[in-house]
Amino acid sequence: TTQWIKTIARTDVPEDDVIAVQAGDREIALYGVEGQVYATDNLCTHGNARLCDGFLTGHEIECPLHQGRFDVRDGRALCSPLRDNVAVYPVSIKDGMVYVEV
Ligand code: FES
Repeated sequence: TTQWIKTIARTDVPEDDVIAVQAGDREIALYGVEGQVYATDNLCTHGNARLCDGFLTGHEIECPLHQGRFDVRDGRALCSPLRDNVAVYPVSIKDGMVYVEV
């Protein structure tokens, strides 16, 4: 089962950048792109790196360790050395807060 977890204020999500938040026992990366908020697991699927330490260009987050890139909209792994997509989570904005369904 999933549940909606309240994270941070919408205004605290940086535009064209990424921030890590806690959602239950999970660490999630939130991205602000073109006025939208996207959520993925914060851990890279390739190794022990946090995507919040990576670089966001458009809808692509680049892992800081080996420069693998994911599309933050659907979690798709876009290049080597990535093999596995990263999990994405539905996002909802309510009363100025960002909720993530995990
Ligand atoms: Fe992310 Fe290797 S740990 S690309």
